[in-house]
Amino acid sequence: MSTSVPPTRRVAVLVSGSGTNLVALLEAIDADPAFGGEVVVVASDQPTAGGLEHARRRGLPVVALALSDHPDRAAWEAALTTAVAAHEPDVVVLAGFMRVLSARFLRGWPDRVLNTHPSLLPAFRGAHAVRDALAHGVRVTGATVHLVDEQVDHGPIIAQRCVPVEPDDTEASLHTRIKAVEHDLLPACVKLLCQDRLHIVGRTVHIEPEELP
Ligand code: GAR
Repeated sequence: MSTSVPPTRRVAVLVSGSGTNLVALLEAIDADPAFGGEVVVVASDQPTAGGLEHARRRGLPVVALALSDHPDRAAWEAALTTAVAAHEPDVVVLAGFMRVLSARFLRGWPDRVLNTHPSLLPAFRGAHAVRDALAHGVRVTGATVHLVDEQVDHGPIIAQRCVPVEPDDTEASLHTRIKAVEHDLLPACVKLLCQDRLHIVGRTVHIEPEELP
């Protein structure tokens, strides 16, 4: 009798900052033998990113490519694409990666690049989502995990969760609570992608079997 073992997807993670979402993903993979994915490389545009340190401590391969070390943005992105592709990832996770990736990068992993964003998209796209939500006076914001397309913070949405805004919130306090939500939501969505459970029809992502993270 043959038993079929589901494939383990190779996951690349791109970070620009402290890397708490990377750590949450690594811990979720460690804790779940059925996750279906393993992190094979962590890459950053910020050579001093805390996320790279976490990866190094775990003995994971890291790629650090500063935009300023390249003649232009296209050259930087080409170098990043080559360096990431060398690790043959099936899936690319943007976990606090603060650069926009063009079609030239994305076409390497069609519908396989996933991003976490600290707002309820399509509200508050861009690099200052938490600050912008506070400035707008919203009562509720949250976290969104979505597939990446060529527009900023725009691709099909996999999952969202709400985070209430408290009257005395600062950008830091609100972002801390949003990140706590992302630390659960992002690994859950990466797992769905690794397990081939996402089916995209237009802008709609169907999860099969249906089970909202
Ligand atoms: C996360 O909140 C993520 O949603 C945000 O950066 C933070 C990274 O935190 N990403 C964006 O704003 C992208 N537009 P971390 O480095 O602690 O994981």
